[in-house]
Amino acid sequence: MGIEARLIKQKIGVEITGINLSQPQSDDMLSEIRRLWVDHVVAVFPGQIVNDDQHIAFSQRLGELELINMAALQCEGRPEIYEATNLDKDGNIMTDDHPILTINRGNQKWHSDSSFKAVPATASMLHAYIVPEEGGQTEFANMAAAYEALDAETKELCEGLTAIHDFYWSRRDVEEQAFTKAERDAIPPARHPLIRLHPETGRKAIYVGSHTREIEGWNFAESRALIERLIVHGTGPEFTYRHDWEVGDMVLWDNRSALHRGLAFDDQREKRRLHRTTIAGTGTTL
Ligand SMILES: [Fe+2]
Repeated sequence: MGIEARLIKQKIGVEITGINLSQPQSDDMLSEIRRLWVDHVVAVFPGQIVNDDQHIAFSQRLGELELINMAALQCEGRPEIYEATNLDKDGNIMTDDHPILTINRGNQKWHSDSSFKAVPATASMLHAYIVPEEGGQTEFANMAAAYEALDAETKELCEGLTAIHDFYWSRRDVEEQAFTKAERDAIPPARHPLIRLHPETGRKAIYVGSHTREIEGWNFAESRALIERLIVHGTGPEFTYRHDWEVGDMVLWDNRSALHRGLAFDDQREKRRLHRTTIAGTGTTL
């Protein structure tokens, strides 16, 4: 049986069915999936019954994986899996002041995964194990479509600019003790073009998000104003898709051309556990 692809929205998202991601995929199938998710920025695979090993194996077909360097965010000794959850190792809801919850809440701001690294992630893939009744959706924005819709004057203004991305800027509300000095030193700020050229599609995309601190060489207030304006523009309804999670959903997105954020849920009453793999980038962006 072949796969079926259904467009979710005109400018973002494709749903792919008729495929079992727990099984190895042929090279042809991989190329087809790659074409679909790169073109539509986000690919949703509903109803997948896969374990971490199968999730990792499929993700590795798309590229080398990033390893999670903070032990507290890893899934039990699996550095390939980033566990996005409000549950401790015994399955109990973490207390409100738990540093992991503070880190998770930071993901409620629009961002591109690991844009704070010199070689940022190509893609991310989330698999849902436990989802809340209410809230906890993930929203995605197509920043290539958003770039194309900018007025000519703004495109010209942005051309050739470099932005500084800094993990600790996006986590500036988090208490100091959530990170060790070694963790801080391990993630120095990174430089990226404000307008990023996609290596596969040749399309340009606005590359900003919560990790973006300032524009190099610009006055700080003017930097912030432009960054905020671009985020507001890019995350307008026309360019965005909100995914309502069902258990078994796998969602793959392109960090080179998408922003995303997790929506809030009542993390002191409801449970949520999603596992993410992160496909590493292959080079610097400048
Ligand atoms: Fe994220």
